[in-house]
Amino acid sequence: MMRKTGMDRTMNIKTTFIILAITAIVASCTSTGESGISSLATFDSAYAQADKARKRASKAGVEWRDTSKLLADSKKANASGDRETAMNLVREAKLQSDLAISQVKENREFLEKVPYYNANSTPEEDLENTQGFFRWKFPDLTNEEFSNGFYALDENLRENWLAIEEFPPYFPAIDEGETLWATPFNNGNYYGNCFGYAGVADKYPRWDRKIGKVITLEMDINGCRVRNGEPPFDYGKSTELMAVAAYMAYKSRGKQINVEIPEDDPRALEAYNEGKEFFYSRRGQLNMACYQCHFDTAGKWLRTNMLGTAFGQTSHFPVYRSKWGSIGGLHRRYKGCNKQVRAKPFDLQSETYRNLEFFHTYMSNGIVMNGPGARF
Ligand code: HEC
Repeated sequence: MMRKTGMDRTMNIKTTFIILAITAIVASCTSTGESGISSLATFDSAYAQADKARKRASKAGVEWRDTSKLLADSKKANASGDRETAMNLVREAKLQSDLAISQVKENREFLEKVPYYNANSTPEEDLENTQGFFRWKFPDLTNEEFSNGFYALDENLRENWLAIEEFPPYFPAIDEGETLWATPFNNGNYYGNCFGYAGVADKYPRWDRKIGKVITLEMDINGCRVRNGEPPFDYGKSTELMAVAAYMAYKSRGKQINVEIPEDDPRALEAYNEGKEFFYSRRGQLNMACYQCHFDTAGKWLRTNMLGTAFGQTSHFPVYRSKWGSIGGLHRRYKGCNKQVRAKPFDLQSETYRNLEFFHTYMSNGIVMNGPGARF
């Protein structure tokens, strides 16, 4: 490498100074707007900033539903030469991610004010408070009725639903599940070799102390298959998985939800608390928490939907929904409710949803199981 002469060095210092001065002037003349992206930034650098912010939000589990799409659209606009649209989209994506990240902090303050949330209460206390609240709010509803969702709350909806229940749309799934249950795997074993009998859905989700995680019924069905040399079902696409789950739910009808949170494993309480915090935290562009639609507002209308009570909400899954035209699990519903508030949903069977299911189902302990269900 060549040694630098004194002259070079002075030049370097000079150029650096000039560049710094120009940058300072430019910065003071151009507005960066709320997004913090300068109007003089190149598209690529603006995109990189926005995508970095999106990744931060994603890592914190708070990304909004449409941010990725804004970024993808910005790329398209840029490619077609429409710089102004491209930059506006990128700015909006950056702003969304910044706001999502600030939601994490705001939620901490928000949670302190939520009357039904107490970070330090025990699961037993939470259960008593939740069930007490709903029994007080709907004194006429029996335990059985709570498990009927919003059909317990409105006469007209109930009539439509009872008409659907005359020819239950989930019956084919139960039949298929029964056949699968009775068909041996290639090694000659059956699901029954793993589960004992089919009516065990009341115990799900369960805490697995060996791996220290919440395990759902769907996961145990797949675990059973894999242990017996069969390929696992696809959580999103498999109708067979839903059929086996529907049959097991059917065989569990009449039992009471009985989720256990073992006291001697602090990780179980941690998972439960994570689910609890998720349930009460505001998310997405609409900045709304699960509890804001399924507690006080239960029984009220949200556009064309009546909101059901959080209590009893998990008793009938998997569920046939006319809107889906198929049968789906609880996490598919979670995804829908997340998307509704314009939050990016999590994957089916992700740890976040499993912990949410742990808390959410535990809250309904004692409710009679009536799955599979039918919903609009
Ligand atoms: C903006 C309001 C809103 C928010 C927020 C919301 N939901 Fe919902 N949810 C609905 C509506 C509307 C329905 C359909 C009517 C019903 O069953 O309550 C629904 C239905 C459900 C159902 C199905 C109930 C059944 O009987 O089959 C479950 C389970 C559920 N929500 C859970 C959640 C969870 C968990 C969250 C938080 C991640 C959440 N919801 C957030 C509006 C909301």
